[in-house]
Formats: sequence, structure tokens, C-alpha cells
Amino acid sequence: MSLIERLGLRLLHNLDPERAHAVSIQALKLGLAPLHGRPMTSPQLTTEIGGIPLLNPIGLAAGYDKNAEALSPLSRAGFGFLEVGAATPRPQEGSGKPRLYRLPEDNAVINRFGFNNQGIDAITKRLCRTTTNIPRGLNLGANKDSQQRADDFGHVLTTASAHIDFATVNVSSPNTKSLRDLQSKDALEDLLGRVNSANETLNKKVPIFLKISPDLNETEIQDIADIALDVGLSAIICTNTTVDRDNLSSPHRNQSGGLSGRPLFEKSTRILAQMQSATKGQIDLIGVGGVSSGADAYEKIRAGASAVQLYSALIYGGLSLIPKITNDLHQILVADGFAKLNEAVGVSAEKWL
Ligand SMILES: Cc1cc2nc3c(=O)[nH]c(=O)nc-3n(C[C@H](O)[C@H](O)[C@H](O)COP(=O)(O)O)c2cc1C
Repeated sequence: MSLIERLGLRLLHNLDPERAHAVSIQALKLGLAPLHGRPMTSPQLTTEIGGIPLLNPIGLAAGYDKNAEALSPLSRAGFGFLEVGAATPRPQEGSGKPRLYRLPEDNAVINRFGFNNQGIDAITKRLCRTTTNIPRGLNLGANKDSQQRADDFGHVLTTASAHIDFATVNVSSPNTKSLRDLQSKDALEDLLGRVNSANETLNKKVPIFLKISPDLNETEIQDIADIALDVGLSAIICTNTTVDRDNLSSPHRNQSGGLSGRPLFEKSTRILAQMQSATKGQIDLIGVGGVSSGADAYEKIRAGASAVQLYSALIYGGLSLIPKITNDLHQILVADGFAKLNEAVGVSAEKWL
């Protein structure tokens, strides 16, 4: 990490966490944040998710750039792909503040934002005028007060479809009351059917991903896997934040909301391996949760992921983490004798079952 980045992070950590987030987005927009440039790539790092080729498997997870404000600088940070949002049909404020907590002793974060965003019309305008040289996806959400949440996802997809490479149905945020109920068998079948119908009407069909919670049991995972195969999902993202609070030491550990970062690593990796087993490797998986190093990314790949996303580690390690993770992952794959990333996918999934 450069001295400038170290000082920048120290400055941000002296601010209220939500303020620090806004300042970091501004810094990116103003060109003040040091950026790596083109994504690092190699034969070992290239991969594919739902038919989308990636130069490297390291992606930005949803929730950092909710309103697609910093797409262009973020596409020059070394990521192989980006996900913006969550976007809902209408703008919404989200939960009352404060609603974001740093847990530095645990390398973790708790948030209860509740889908605060400027709404899909404003977000689509930005997507429309920003080109990126790496694939970008949109995290689809539902308005809190919506009478028909299942239709919100189709509405957001339809509005932005011409400007995105994939869309993620997010039914796993713990911060919108009853949203996770949409993961249950009948509700999910109905929801994905509606999203697919909306997708069918588009000139350019969008690969649909599903993002799941780490707080599911094995039966629920198998149900989701069966539905995913049935409706032809392009990928599953494992996982969102958890409501678990095991083994934390930070003063903010009992704040309500979703926990992310290091303490989520094992739990989300187990869900990933279970999903790989439940789908019999027939759907591409993205591993998310607690990744902060090349070794972590490698572990997710060995557990079943064809690509990886991260967010919380950036709060502690800054954007220079991205080229470091990518470079370290390349070295590890070479050292372990893998000519291509996909040869390593799922090789130690058993260990997590
Ligand atoms: C502040 C914050 C906001 C988030 N917002 C979203 C969101 O809008 N949609 C979503 O699918 N996930 C959201 N997430 C979850 C992340 O995308 C990711 O799944 C989770 O944080 C685990 O990864 P990490 O440990 O690398 O942070 C959010 C996470 C954080 C920390």
C-alpha cells in the first residue's frame, strides 16, 4: 500500500463510516484515488461466469457503488468485473442512521442500509453514459413499501437491461423485512419465473444471477439449486451478509444488520461448497464473503467458485488490494500447477461439506 493510500485510509477511518463511504466515492469521481489501471490477466486468471468472459476472477461486490456513480474509475482499479446497486424501482432512503459500523478488531462490517438508492431511472442514466472495458452487472432490489415485490425485480431489469452485462436477483439482504422469504421454494419459483418473463421480452436478453444468504440450511440450498437448474439461471452468488454474530470482539458486535468481512469467510465458503454439490457443478458460482487475500480467493475457487467478489476488505485494505490479490492468486495457481483457473474450481469442495 502506498503512503498516499495509507494516509487516505487513516483519514477515512476517522470519519463516521457512512460519511467515509461517501467521501471515498467522491475521491474516486474526482480522480484522487490511486488506481492500478487495466485488470491484470494471464491464462491462469481468465475465467467465465454465465457465459461472460472475464480477464480475471476478482469482482467488486454489490453495495459499494449503489448508484453507479464511480463506475468509470472503478473499472480502472484492476477488477475483472463490477456489480453496482442494489437498485429499486423508486428511490428510497433506506433505514435510519447510523446504519453502518466498522468492527476493526474483527476485520468486519455491520450494515443495515435497507436498499438506500436513487432509484433505477437515475442509475440507468449513469449506466447509459458510462462505458467500461470490463463486464458490469446490476443488483436488483425491491422497494420496501412495494405491493408486488416480485414485479419490482423485473421492472429494474427491464429499465437497465440495455446497459448491463448481467443482473443479480437479490433476495438475500437481511435489511429489508421479509425479503429473504422470497428464497423459499414457491416464492422463488414464482419470482424467477417473472424475472425470466421480463427478460424474454427484451431485445437483448440479460444473464440472470441469484444471490443467496449464508443463513440457509441444506434443504433450502437443495431447493434453490433445483429451481436454479430448472429456470436456467446463469450463476449463483454465494453469499450476502449474515445475521450470525459468533466469535466477535468489537464493541459494535451486537448492532443489528448484516455482518460481512473476515468472520463471514468460513460460513459463506461452506454454503458455496454445498451449492456446488447441490447443483452438481452445472451452474457457475461466485464466491463472496471475507475475501481479503489471494489465498482467500484461491480457497473460494477450490470450494467451487469460478469467480470471487469482495467489499469489506477494501474498507481496511484500500483499492491496492485488488492488484495484490490478483497477482498473488496468479502465483498460487502457477505454483500449484494449474494451467487454467477452471481446473482448480471445486477441487477441495469436499473439505467444506
Ligand atoms: C455496506 C454494505 C452494503 C451492501 N449492500 C448490498 C446490496 O445492496 N446488495 C447486495 O446484494 N449485497 C450488498 N452487500 C453485501 C456484499 O455485496 C457482500 O455480499 C458481503 O458484504 C460479503 O462480502 P465481503 O465480506 O467481501 O464484504 C453489502 C455489503 C456491505 C458491507
